[in-house]
Amino acid sequence: MSDASGANPLRDPADRRLPRIAGPSGLVIFGVTGDLSRKKLMPAVYDLANRGLLPPGFSLIGFARREWEHEDFAHEVYEAVKQHSRTPFREEVWQQLVQGCRFVQGTFDDDDAFETLKQTISELDKAQGTGGNFAFYLSVPPKFFPKVVQQLKKHGLADQKEGSWRRAVIEKPFGHNLQSAQELNRIVHDVFPTNEVFRIDHYLGKETVQNILALRFANTMFEPLWNRSYVDHVQITMAEDIGIGGRAGYYDGIGAARDVIQNHLLQLLALTAMEEPASFEADALVAEKTKVLGAVKIPKDLGKETVRGQYAAGWQGGEQAVGYLEEDGIDPKSKTDTYAAVKLRIDNRRWAGVPFYLRTGKRLGRRVTEIAVVFQRAPHSPFDHTATEELGQNALVIRVQPDEGVTVRFGSKVPGTSLEVRDVSMDFAYGESFTESSPEAYERLILDVLLGDANLFPRLEEVEQSWRILDPIEEYWDKHGKPAQYQAGTWGPTEADEMLARDGRSWRRP
Ligand SMILES: NC(=O)c1ccc[n+]([C@@H]2O[C@H](COP(=O)([O-])OP(=O)(O)OC[C@H]3O[C@@H](n4cnc5c(N)ncnc54)[C@H](OP(=O)(O)O)[C@@H]3O)[C@@H](O)[C@H]2O)c1
Repeated sequence: MSDASGANPLRDPADRRLPRIAGPSGLVIFGVTGDLSRKKLMPAVYDLANRGLLPPGFSLIGFARREWEHEDFAHEVYEAVKQHSRTPFREEVWQQLVQGCRFVQGTFDDDDAFETLKQTISELDKAQGTGGNFAFYLSVPPKFFPKVVQQLKKHGLADQKEGSWRRAVIEKPFGHNLQSAQELNRIVHDVFPTNEVFRIDHYLGKETVQNILALRFANTMFEPLWNRSYVDHVQITMAEDIGIGGRAGYYDGIGAARDVIQNHLLQLLALTAMEEPASFEADALVAEKTKVLGAVKIPKDLGKETVRGQYAAGWQGGEQAVGYLEEDGIDPKSKTDTYAAVKLRIDNRRWAGVPFYLRTGKRLGRRVTEIAVVFQRAPHSPFDHTATEELGQNALVIRVQPDEGVTVRFGSKVPGTSLEVRDVSMDFAYGESFTESSPEAYERLILDVLLGDANLFPRLEEVEQSWRILDPIEEYWDKHGKPAQYQAGTWGPTEADEMLARDGRSWRRP
């Protein structure tokens, strides 16, 4: 088969339909005994192997404090895969993967352990043909990020040799304010070149999030409405129904705004609001996201345009839930926010005057992440007012999770009435339209790291912009009062409802 130019279109290396397969490489996971590694990273590695996207000699090295032999580690990987992988277990895939599994025991300040790691990598290069190409995944508490990268430098593990690569993958949060993010960046870039640093925001690995680009830029019917002339406001929600679980040490002092708004929600805002990028290459995408984040205005009246909350005891899913201050490991005087809502404006021609309301929280009514673009009412209604009493505003809702898909809400005539109009929904559901289930975000992101594809990883410019927006809000909260209380299982503090009510609007109850 050939096209007019004589080239075989099936062989076009830029064809984005073709599977992308990683070249010879390995992955080192620091903090491999942790929650993230067990539930997400190790299963994602197996799923990639199962889909045939890893090279035959792919190697996985775990680094942690436990006194494990290689076999104990392999057993842990096996258990994690059995419990959490997305694709079915296949013995032949596992047998190939386990050939490259190794464990290095040590703490982050243990020089001998890093020397052992170096030796293990050289052995794998010979035995498995990994070609010196290794990514170091820092799945460790953020306070250890600097130490681990410095150790990698000290032991020559980050040296970029001719014909091979070394990469760093850094989990969130990237700093806890602008200053610490810049300082962390300085340390990381002292060791790894810019294009070999991959900052994780796993939301960008989700199919539904990447679909924002397809929805906006592959269609003609949405973009003409995507501006201040038609959009009334935008609501971006990430609600969790769980509490902090066993993560008190991580969460207390960080809170909902730093944990979720700074990264996931501002990334969703950027993808929703940005202009069309010149291409989907990393540089072009980053330029547009950074530009729109740079146009976000910090609320003028932080007391009225931001709300923070903390969950109190309540009922959730038929079970009694304790309040945040009674959770194990939480300081009973903690002022950490478990709920945060902010009203942001984007100071540009497309969005002037359109508020973007962002909210996130734990122990809310339901687990849901969505972006709702809510449209203005029709400028004139020829209907009798009783006919449209039940008619809301048109909305386009991108359902990020769960029930991934898109909903369009609009008015329709109620059958049998003379002319009553009510809201109805038109739904696209991934599960119904596509036979293949969506890969987990971490599958996509780990594969992209191995391929050196940086499109779905926030760059420092974006991280800096996010902290520029959040820092004044956090500083204001530090100085003023305490978080408002809300009962577990509800939709957050009444102050958040009041914030929207002042604008004549209300939060969606997804
Ligand atoms: N869990 C999630 O869903 C999630 C989501 C998004 C981002 N993250 C980020 O991912 C990273 C890991 O999170 P996690 O939930 O997996 O954390 P975790 O369960 O607390 O695990 C931390 C890991 O670090 C190791 N570690 C801690 N101190 C160490 C030291 N001094 N020397 C050597 N190893 C040490 C622990 O090993 P031991 O077993 O020896 O203690 C463990 O393997 C964090 O940056 C977090 O912010 C996590």
